[in-house]
Amino acid sequence: MGPDAIHIDANTRLIALLGYPVGQTLSPFIHNTAFAAQGINFAFAAFPVPPERIGDGVRGLAALHFAGAGVTIPHKQAVLPYLDELSPRARAVGASNMIVRRPDGTLFGDNTDLTGFLAPLLPLTDRLRGADMAVLGAGGAARAVAYALLVTFRPKRLTLIARTSSKADMLATDLTAFDERNALEVHAFSTARAAVRGARLVVNTTPVGMYPAVDDSPWNDADDFGDDHIVYDIVYNPEETRLLNDAASRGAVTIGGLDMLVEQAAAAYVQWTGHEMPVDVVKEALRRRSEMLHR
Ligand code: ATR
Repeated sequence: MGPDAIHIDANTRLIALLGYPVGQTLSPFIHNTAFAAQGINFAFAAFPVPPERIGDGVRGLAALHFAGAGVTIPHKQAVLPYLDELSPRARAVGASNMIVRRPDGTLFGDNTDLTGFLAPLLPLTDRLRGADMAVLGAGGAARAVAYALLVTFRPKRLTLIARTSSKADMLATDLTAFDERNALEVHAFSTARAAVRGARLVVNTTPVGMYPAVDDSPWNDADDFGDDHIVYDIVYNPEETRLLNDAASRGAVTIGGLDMLVEQAAAAYVQWTGHEMPVDVVKEALRRRSEMLHR
């Protein structure tokens, strides 16, 4: 199982994943599958870089002439000081999940988590522009999601629903500059029912429902969903979470995290290679991999 054999020679362009730990990441599988499918001379490998060495890791990309790097937990914020330039969206969110090494050796950081998150929503723009929205969770993913929703759809109301209210308050404060319509509100899960019922879009950014706890849901009452809802779960394993099943059973449109996972990778891939990622090939390979693992 895994990508078809990739061929490594003196001209292979390397891409690193910088994380700590890196044992669970799907990025090497995704990118190497795409390189092999397209027959391009790139290879992707994961590097466990402890937090105190992240500066060495980033600068090493330039010295070793890597094509670039993916960046994952816990380094998405820590890499920023070591980059020469940031995209506006990486700067706004304060996090970078991918680095491009330019031919002159400078390092450019972007945030394709945002692009990946938005990709499945853009076809629904007419339904989402100016609508009420709710985000479950207030961590790093919620920060990127809430920023993307504010600047892309200018919602009337954007409710951050969090277990730890101080984190949601801080997030709302940090995003004020992008909240021209005064849309941001903060609620605990216990007081958020009306916001969830009234939202056109509900996004789960918490890990609740992730394998193996597949019977858990971050929002327990399926009756709060109806056919006006779009429910988006950034959890991708399983592909259909209990939250999505509940929402679909009440007529909602559902979007799973696999789309975001592959689209964030695709938005990085084109910057590293100049080629469009074959997303259907990659999604199919991920499904086959997941079936084999859970059999
Ligand atoms: P990520 O970078 O993936 O967003 P994170 O920064 O750890 O990860 O954020 C996870 C979010 O999910 C947090 O808001 C977290 O709430 P706490 O700050 O209170 O931990 C939320 N979360 C995790 N487990 C949860 C649960 N069982 N119920 C509700 N929220 C949960």
